Amino acid sequence: GLIFRPLPSAAPPSPSSRRTKVSVIGAGNVGMAIAQTILTQDLADDLSLVDAKADKLRGEMLDLQHAAAFLPRTHIKASTDYAITAGSDLCIVTAGARQIVGESRLDLVQRNLTLFREIIPPLAQYSPDSIILVVSNPVDVLTYIAWKLSGFPSNRVIGSGTNLDSSRFRFLLAEHLEVNAQDVQAYMVGEHGDSSVALWSGITVGGVPLLSSLEKQQIAYEQEVLERIRQAVVNSAYEVIRLKGYTSWAIGYSVASLARSILRDQRRIHPVSILARDLLDGVPKGREVFLSLPALLGRSGVVGVTSVHLTDEEAVRLSTSADTLWEIQQELGL
Ligand code: NAD
Ligand code: LAC
Repeated sequence: GLIFRPLPSAAPPSPSSRRTKVSVIGAGNVGMAIAQTILTQDLADDLSLVDAKADKLRGEMLDLQHAAAFLPRTHIKASTDYAITAGSDLCIVTAGARQIVGESRLDLVQRNLTLFREIIPPLAQYSPDSIILVVSNPVDVLTYIAWKLSGFPSNRVIGSGTNLDSSRFRFLLAEHLEVNAQDVQAYMVGEHGDSSVALWSGITVGGVPLLSSLEKQQIAYEQEVLERIRQAVVNSAYEVIRLKGYTSWAIGYSVASLARSILRDQRRIHPVSILARDLLDGVPKGREVFLSLPALLGRSGVVGVTSVHLTDEEAVRLSTSADTLWEIQQELGL
């Protein structure tokens, strides 16, 4: 070394000092928000970025590298060639078309299916033991597509799903109750999108079940108020897209929290899109549909699924959400 002399007694790296590698495919608004959150939270030793636009990609890489003096040490690489993703522990896919005003997430499916045919096979080939985390929309259908195209076991193919919707839900409830969103346990499940389902019966605030405690105190709550909050969650993305053109910061933090649970083997529960085959009453047996359920995430991906208690109404809504996704999958010809 120019600056230091290596000591002859320096031990070779032990197996426990193995490096953690994350690849982010798609260096757009969402991919870069995720990349920068992963860097600031010190979640990876190696970060590889892939995009189809070489100049934009190199510009983004340099811009991140220039922050090196303020960040934990991470080796950042970028290329249009998937070879740089080789040996990744986690591959996060954000490439693809996004909604313009007036489009739903489901409107994107054909365009993004075409891209996934280019993206998923090389990713799976270069990192056969990795976990694939899909963020591109429509996320549930694309997670199913990524599972089919990768040939990976289903515990290693996950969609970011309603982890984001649940954060929006907790934010709105926390604002309403004037408490910290981190003390509000609340889940949205099902499709990440228009048919997502709010699990009202399971909401707790500081360990206190919300609805039953309102009932006990004889505080009336209107079904309409609850529905208005659910609608606000569903409309959140449409509002942000109308105002700034895309969503990025919340999905960046949401996906970084998933990356942390996976890479650091946190066994935390996140509502994410997983293969729900045979997990749900009301969904016909054997149906291969991905949708969000509260799942336990760790180093091997999906470690378990919590058995959620659903009211009859919630169960009906969830199976409607599953039907919506199933029907779209049938048209893909995969
Ligand atoms: P963007 O247009 O800013 O970025 C997309 C990037 O994908 C571009 O840089 C483009 O060059 C790249 N790309 C296109 N084709 C490619 C290919 N074949 N290979 C590699 N890269 C390719 O869009 P964005 O705002 O970053 O959104 C990206 C996706 O994320 C959209 O599908 C959007 O709907 C989705 N999204 C999902 C969530 C969620 O909660 N799941 C949240 C926000 C956005
Ligand atoms: C979201 C994207 C658009 O922010 O799916 O919800």
